[in-house]
Amino acid sequence: MGDERGCIVVEDDFPGYSPKYFNIPRHYESDVEYVLLPRGLVIDRTERMAKDIFYEMDFSKPLLAMCVLKGGYIFFNDLLHQLRQLSAQSNNSCQMGIDFIRLKSYQNDQSSGEVKVIGGDDLKKVEGKNLLIVEDIIDTGRTMEKLLEMLKPHKPNSIKVASMLIKRTERSSGYRPDHIGFEVPDKFVIGYGLDYNEYFRDMGHICVISESGKKKYSA
Ligand code: HPA
Ligand code: MG
Repeated sequence: MGDERGCIVVEDDFPGYSPKYFNIPRHYESDVEYVLLPRGLVIDRTERMAKDIFYEMDFSKPLLAMCVLKGGYIFFNDLLHQLRQLSAQSNNSCQMGIDFIRLKSYQNDQSSGEVKVIGGDDLKKVEGKNLLIVEDIIDTGRTMEKLLEMLKPHKPNSIKVASMLIKRTERSSGYRPDHIGFEVPDKFVIGYGLDYNEYFRDMGHICVISESGKKKYSA
């Protein structure tokens, strides 16, 4: 059940769901191998993640929710929607600011290179805040480790990371975020904000890309 891994675990032999039973945009029909996580399930999981985040929140300091663009934008919106609901219903609440950053990796190989934060407010603004970093997917984990290293000198009160997905891969640095939606097989996933060469962000469900899809949209 994935209890010790703190999230829903999708096993390697999970066959997924046939795209023919889902509403996939016509222009992407042949690019999807199978549906891995239907959007409804992702939203249900997000609802629970928001609750977990809310109940461990320190309300004495303002929260700064930081969205890692571009992939995180849909998850960020859905997660913050849930957090706002919880905050409105609760006696505990705190100020919640938002920021949007993009990370640029200068790679020699895949993701071991330097990471630069582009966009967003001055990182000095994280001082004294409870930071909640919201990411779409943790792959090797190295980009997030670098981002955390860069943020710490700016003295946030605390830092938590919520990622919708984590990939089960041999390339992993071992890094695991505080809140994880799903652990998924080492396959290339698209949809719900996740792209392949900037395509597929506009697909609701999280799907595994087909070989023909990779060819069609190769850079
Ligand atoms: N899909 C989209 N973006 C990604 C992935 C993936 O599987 N892994 C790392 N970035
Ligand atoms: Mg990302």
